[in-house]
Amino acid sequence: MTDESGDGQLEARLAEQEAFEPSDDFIEQANVADESIYEEFEEEWPECWTRAADLLDWDEEYTEILDDSEGPFYEWFADGTLNASYNCVDRHVEAGDKNRVAIKWEGEHGNTRTYTYQDLYREVNEFAAALRDLGVEEDDVVTMYMPMVPELPIAMLACARIGAPHSVVFAGFSAEALATRMNAAESRYLITCDGYYRRGDPLDHQAKANEGLSSVDHGVDATVVVDRLGDDGFGHDLKGNQHDWDDLLADFQGDRVDPVERNAEDMLFLMYTSGTTGKPKGVKHTTGGYLAYTAWTSHAVLDLEPEDTYWCSADIGWITGHSYIVYGPLALGTTTVMYEGTPDYPDRGRLWELVEKYAVDVFYTAPTAIRAFMKWGPEYPESYDLSTLRLLGTVGEPINPRAWKWYYKHIGGEECPIVDTWWQTETGGMMVSTLPGIGTMKPGSAGPPLPGIDARVVDTDGEEVDAGQAGYLTVQRPWPGMLRTLYRNDERFIDEYWDEYSDPDEGEWVYFPEDGAKIDDDGYITILGRVDDVVNVSGHRLGTMEIESAIVGVDGVAEAAVVGGDHDIKGEAVYAYVILEDGYDGTEETRDRIIEGVEDAIGPIARPEEVTFTPELPKTRSGKIMRRLLEEIANGEELGDTTTLRNPDVVSDIQEQASGD
Ligand code: WTA
Repeated sequence: MTDESGDGQLEARLAEQEAFEPSDDFIEQANVADESIYEEFEEEWPECWTRAADLLDWDEEYTEILDDSEGPFYEWFADGTLNASYNCVDRHVEAGDKNRVAIKWEGEHGNTRTYTYQDLYREVNEFAAALRDLGVEEDDVVTMYMPMVPELPIAMLACARIGAPHSVVFAGFSAEALATRMNAAESRYLITCDGYYRRGDPLDHQAKANEGLSSVDHGVDATVVVDRLGDDGFGHDLKGNQHDWDDLLADFQGDRVDPVERNAEDMLFLMYTSGTTGKPKGVKHTTGGYLAYTAWTSHAVLDLEPEDTYWCSADIGWITGHSYIVYGPLALGTTTVMYEGTPDYPDRGRLWELVEKYAVDVFYTAPTAIRAFMKWGPEYPESYDLSTLRLLGTVGEPINPRAWKWYYKHIGGEECPIVDTWWQTETGGMMVSTLPGIGTMKPGSAGPPLPGIDARVVDTDGEEVDAGQAGYLTVQRPWPGMLRTLYRNDERFIDEYWDEYSDPDEGEWVYFPEDGAKIDDDGYITILGRVDDVVNVSGHRLGTMEIESAIVGVDGVAEAAVVGGDHDIKGEAVYAYVILEDGYDGTEETRDRIIEGVEDAIGPIARPEEVTFTPELPKTRSGKIMRRLLEEIANGEELGDTTTLRNPDVVSDIQEQASGD
């Protein structure tokens, strides 16, 4: 029982507190605890980045750290060679840690699988041998469309071993989304899964994969299907060049494949992400810089040690899972936890049960999850022993101070520092965050840029704003984990990220991440959210244009505008405003077809929270949809200036529709 009044006082004190310090115990053991690191990185830049590169084993040592002669096509450690799979697996085995656990996997029903580094070594080698046998060659892009099963990181590392870049497509995405990504990368290999469990029920994933394959517009040489569901499966036959994972591997038992020596700048993987246009962007990450950067940030920000059991509750289908479930933690030889299911099945204590069961040291999650935990109440975490936790992290969207404090108190027991890490698919790893053993934490503010990162908040002219003023976040120097380009589209790479603030004639390149931000007197950066047409639903990045094009693809829809509106748990939710063609009515049936259209084109995560039918959309005189107004309507806010509208009357019509009057 908690003492109500005592608890109340504590809540009140916490609510007022604006700055928190790490405990002495934490500082004493922290990987990085000396404030001089910031200065050292400045003084030694770019040599400071050898600290990141030194966390890896190189086949051929690099001689040049940064080649900035062709900005913004920067190269890092460019003449060095290495293999990511060797760095994440073999070297730990060789160092005598073969029996340390690499991956602890827990299925939704509580079945578990444990892979030591030796086990991982065996599986990665055998699958690499199988991939080769299927015809996969160095630089072939292998697509993975898989849920949270251990075969996913095994397949990724097997690809890395033979120098075949992977392109992982989130399992929650639709068949169409899979096909779009395979087409864009001309990928001829697919690793997928028969299904997985969600809240007790088996889901048929293979049907979606097959449907996606039928829309791939080039030949697919081979598909490998993991049997996750066993007897619960949906009985799909494997046809032609489709192989069952286990049957395939039976022929490669005990095989070993030498890790291919990759140039530091060779592609490690592609990850498609949403941007301003309807077409997903293929973010290209390379082997040396990305791996060095994720290892370094795992060491410095997540404070990971090889002895730690670490759990990032993201899905590997997003960048967070790539960098901080797979590559960073495994490069450091840590034990990384993978969980198949959702936080509320079979009950709302599931995650805390796992923290207790695995004695998790470091836990990394998203604010949307924390807001859900808050809503469910502290009794769930209180029923478990969370005392092994040493450090907590968040990523994916701004965290409001109340959620931060709830996390601090009810999960961290007021003992664990929290790192609020700002970064993106494109940045490869964390960019703005306190260092947990050094910095004062300010709830709601991510913190200063990491050592060596030159992030600044600027106005539309590129001038730095004063403390407290809102502006745009920029990064004014390259960093090892940065994307190298958009796959086969250098022009769009420049357009999307470098056009806004760079001065190419002067050789000055400024990266623009499309986030609004402000900075305080201590140099702490608070992220205000995207300033482009990207919505962030439960920490998942979705393009409004992609959703709009899905909606206009539905029979009877003439035009659509999609915006992000505030949502208590999801952070943002999708609101759709739709004009129908003559002869169609805004019935439930039409609404359902629209929702289905979005789910088919992208996936259930993009499902509109509300669909509002309207005869017109608010447009400026030049014919641009005024999304700001639609956002205000979605949020039930007072409307800003409508005088620049061509059709000001439409606004009250939409408001009435939206409120159901
Ligand atoms: C947002 C996820 C506030 C931001 C790693 C960014 C954040 C987008 C934070 C990238 C944070 C990420 N505070 N906002 N700590 N971390 N974001 O590519 O808008 O899926 O641009 O990468 O998430 O999303 P992405």
